[in-house]
Amino acid sequence: MIWLYYRTHLFLLPLLFLISAIVIAGQDNDLTQYVNAFIGTEKNSNSGNVFPGASIPFGMAKVGIDVDVFAPSGYIRNSNNNVTGMSLLHDSGTGAGGSYGTFASMPVYCKDGSITNCKPSKAQRKRPRKVTGSTPSDIARPGYFSSVLNDDTQLEATTTRRTALLRYTFNSTSKNPIISIDWTEDLSNSFRGTGHAQIIKDSNGKAQQILLNGTYGSSFAAAQFFNHQFACFDLNNGDEQIVDQSALWTVKNTGETTINTEKSQIDASEFDSDTSQHGVLVSWQKTNVVDGKAQLLLRVGVSFLSAEQACLNAKEEIPTIDFDMVANKSTAAWQEKLSRVQLDSTTDPTIQKLLYSSLYRGFLTPSNATHEAQGVFTGTTEPYFDSLYCTWDTFRTFFPLLSLTSAQDYADITRSYTDGWRKAGFIPECRANNLPGYTQGGSDGTNVMADFAVKYRNARMGVNFDDLYAALKHDATFDSKTFNNGGGRQIAVYEKYGYIPSDYNDTEVKGLQRFQSSRTAEYAYNDFGIRNVALLLGKMEDAARWTKRSLFYKNVFDKDSESYGFSNFMQKRLMNGNFDKESPIICSPADTNKSHNCFYDAQNTYGFYESSSWEYSFFVPHDFAGLISLIANNSISTFIKRIDTFFERNLFRSDDEPSFQTPVTYHYANSPSRSVARVRKLVLNEFNLTAGGIPGNDDGAAMATLLVMHLLGLYPVPSTREYLIVSPFVPSYTLYNTLLGNVTFKAQDFDPSFLQGQTPLQNSTKAYVKSVTINGKVQTSRCKISFDDIFPAAAAKTTDNTNPPPQNTEIIFEMGTQAEVTDCGPDPSDLPSSMSTGGFASF
Ligand SMILES: *[C@@H]1O[C@H](CO)[C@@H](O)[C@H](O)[C@H]1NC(C)=O
Ligand SMILES: *[C@@H]1O[C@H](CO)[C@@H](O)[C@H](O)[C@H]1NC(C)=O
Ligand SMILES: *[C@@H]1O[C@H](CO)[C@@H](O)[C@H](O)[C@H]1NC(C)=O
Ligand SMILES: *[C@@H]1O[C@H](CO)[C@@H](O)[C@H](O)[C@H]1NC(C)=O
Ligand SMILES: *[C@@H]1O[C@H](CO)[C@@H](O)[C@H](O)[C@H]1NC(C)=O
Ligand SMILES: *[C@@H]1O[C@H](CO)[C@@H](O)[C@H](O)[C@H]1NC(C)=O
Ligand SMILES: *[C@@H]1O[C@H](CO)[C@@H](O)[C@H](O)[C@H]1NC(C)=O
Ligand SMILES: *[C@@H]1O[C@H](CO)[C@@H](O)[C@H](O)[C@H]1NC(C)=O
Ligand SMILES: *[C@@H]1O[C@H](CO)[C@@H](O)[C@H](O)[C@H]1NC(C)=O
Ligand SMILES: *[C@@H]1O[C@H](CO)[C@@H](O)[C@H](O)[C@H]1NC(C)=O
Ligand SMILES: *[C@@H]1O[C@H](CO)[C@@H](O)[C@H](O)[C@H]1NC(C)=O
Repeated sequence: MIWLYYRTHLFLLPLLFLISAIVIAGQDNDLTQYVNAFIGTEKNSNSGNVFPGASIPFGMAKVGIDVDVFAPSGYIRNSNNNVTGMSLLHDSGTGAGGSYGTFASMPVYCKDGSITNCKPSKAQRKRPRKVTGSTPSDIARPGYFSSVLNDDTQLEATTTRRTALLRYTFNSTSKNPIISIDWTEDLSNSFRGTGHAQIIKDSNGKAQQILLNGTYGSSFAAAQFFNHQFACFDLNNGDEQIVDQSALWTVKNTGETTINTEKSQIDASEFDSDTSQHGVLVSWQKTNVVDGKAQLLLRVGVSFLSAEQACLNAKEEIPTIDFDMVANKSTAAWQEKLSRVQLDSTTDPTIQKLLYSSLYRGFLTPSNATHEAQGVFTGTTEPYFDSLYCTWDTFRTFFPLLSLTSAQDYADITRSYTDGWRKAGFIPECRANNLPGYTQGGSDGTNVMADFAVKYRNARMGVNFDDLYAALKHDATFDSKTFNNGGGRQIAVYEKYGYIPSDYNDTEVKGLQRFQSSRTAEYAYNDFGIRNVALLLGKMEDAARWTKRSLFYKNVFDKDSESYGFSNFMQKRLMNGNFDKESPIICSPADTNKSHNCFYDAQNTYGFYESSSWEYSFFVPHDFAGLISLIANNSISTFIKRIDTFFERNLFRSDDEPSFQTPVTYHYANSPSRSVARVRKLVLNEFNLTAGGIPGNDDGAAMATLLVMHLLGLYPVPSTREYLIVSPFVPSYTLYNTLLGNVTFKAQDFDPSFLQGQTPLQNSTKAYVKSVTINGKVQTSRCKISFDDIFPAAAAKTTDNTNPPPQNTEIIFEMGTQAEVTDCGPDPSDLPSSMSTGGFASF
């Protein structure tokens, strides 16, 4: 077999050189047309929570309509839900929490056209969307959002980084339009009782600007934490629009509405105790008229610093108010990001849309709040990113994808992670609303920073590696004292016992300790990341400490635990070394007891976060060889049976991040074709172009980027340079890394029947990567590829950390049948790397 394998390659070599010209869709091909921004917006549950509105890449202003039921992104597709306004700030893909939806504006229709008769609050002003069949009239494309209400009023938005342009087109010219601007009712009505609203008027008493300043609850623990948000509405569209009247409105808890046209400002300290809803009303006497319809254009700056700063942001970012120009610029910025991945023109149209829709979301978050940091981050001169929501989600695929496409963005975000440690004492984890945010498992920012460091160790791109390492070391050395708030880890006890004992009452840590076993596994992986950076920087003594700890995952495996004929699962472990057994299927889809709380709450006493022991017992990305020895006595067939059982017994919960890696686990059992079958099933069954087309919350594009990686046929091992080679869903593609160069991947003999989900994958389908050729050189492994092989420029040492000259690469995946791809290659070293077998030995 082995001999044949080589012979095949030698025979094909000359052929491969010939097939080097790749047909790539042209650079001027408009890639934004393939984006369906509604994927993941179906309902307000764990089916996406995606934000479909207008934003630039990493935009802070995220503008779209909100509906009248709580949805974490403000929006849901279901046309039964009515529109409450267009608001300015949103997150995308977050879980049950949710924040923003602030400063909504909405046309209101008031008796006799009089401002004093308006019904301006959220509950009063909401209106149905125009619907065709059951589909709402909403349009979303990169940089632009539109919704038409059932009376034909159109709401449109486009943005720059911190500024929105809102366009309202009315159904006639007959009435002077009136807009209600909300101040206190954000998505979760979390106004916290401090702030100020002011109508700035000209010498004729006509309103020109509205300045809003408010304090709101945060996405995590809204009752405990708060943040400040500011907006500045420019009402005149240059001098195209003239305001008629303006007023402050208040709605009492009883529903009684007061409209005050005399007062031009109010401080929240003046609120009566029986009022909770406040805002501003504006009517216009002159607007533009387009096609016989009145049209209003509002420029609205947002800021996290002050209302005055919001006005400055608007003026600076949109000096000339021209909706189409701003929308075109935003679209161009998206085109630039999307063109980092270009697909062969013969790509299946559905796959093309899935890929660009997902890549789009992969650049939508986190939000670039540079120069807008507040709280402990105030005044930082480093790049600043908010809505890192949560790093536990994004370290797995989001950042490893970014490392392929966007060196500079990755460097900026890495600087922001490092700076988070400088300012807040710990690496940010679930930073949201300018607040440190919860830690979900480990200190996973560690793996984001380590991933950058090991890949961009030569170019560095402005990242201070001394500080980066100091931050990693700090998070790995000091307890955060607050397990559920902020970054850091519960280190002392972890290091003392070699695991986090489930009965250890850490009185220094506020709140109950939970997820002890999954956190032990995650801490070990965090330690692996730090170790790799220590090795990279030659800090050998440190590296030894982190290496030891990165193997602590072994300490929570209980050899006496059993499930479905297998033994040795991760379990809760007590201080005395005994295990506190729970069924390994708890919190898997096969768990029939729906009372089990698998989430963040204190009721989750099972030792694992958002998944089962079954699934977490595979989470050892850095040392599968060690795991196979531990739980399968080195028997590959036992290990494969165990993975098969995991899938066959409905233990795989595809809706959540701990599942990301499990379908490719077979690679470590020298059985890449089995991974291909699992990944294909996942992609074709659980991702599609409908509004419900992702299996779980997008979680800051964690799901989106998982799909992109799968479509490209690569799966990352975070904090290393390694990618597993699975099977691409496209015949060829090019990645344009503006720093390192262009790399074209070609699946030679790509078989389109691979994409036909109705039929099970046939053994005869050429769905499997048989051999890998890089710039004409055949590789021995068909299971893994290094970042340095993809981008040789990354390995080029420059004397002063200046950028290396870019280099282009051509990578050919020769596709074969299942019978032709029985293993990873002839040599044990062709398996994906594991620490126990000498992998990841140096960086
Ligand atoms: C939306 O508004 C329409 C018309 O006012 C109303 O019939 C419908 O019940 C509203 N939908 C919801 C979910 O409140
Ligand atoms: C225009 O909008 C107003 C306010 O909602 C509504 O009363 C009127 O019926 C609409 N006219 C048309 C032609 O849709
Ligand atoms: C926002 O309003 C509050 C209440 O009036 C005030 O104390 C605070 O200084 C304002 N903040 C800014 C940045 O203007
Ligand atoms: C915006 O782009 C469209 C389509 O390319 C073009 O027709 C239009 O002239 C552009 N508008 C502005 C103001 O740049
Ligand atoms: C973030 O915003 C700053 C300031 O506008 C800009 O210089 C930087 O390029 C942006 N970075 C990203 C990744 O968008
Ligand atoms: C943990 O210790 C604190 C302080 O001594 C005590 O109040 C609390 O009841 C203990 N919790 C448990 C679960 O033992
Ligand atoms: C289901 O789980 C709940 C919460 O842990 C527990 O109280 C209950 O006894 C369980 N029910 C069964 C049938 O095991
Ligand atoms: C593990 O494998 C070795 C070598 O194949 C064998 O000798 C040993 O009995 C096995 N141990 C168990 C517990 O199955
Ligand atoms: C689309 O994907 C969702 C989420 O995985 C799934 O529930 C649904 O069945 C899929 N729909 C179609 C038509 O494939
Ligand atoms: C990569 O491709 C882009 C777009 O075709 C091109 O402008 C650039 O010069 C290429 N880079 C290299 C290093 O050839
Ligand atoms: C595919 O090959 C596997 C062995 O590699 C075999 O077990 C299976 O039955 C084959 N499937 C079909 C449909 O032939």
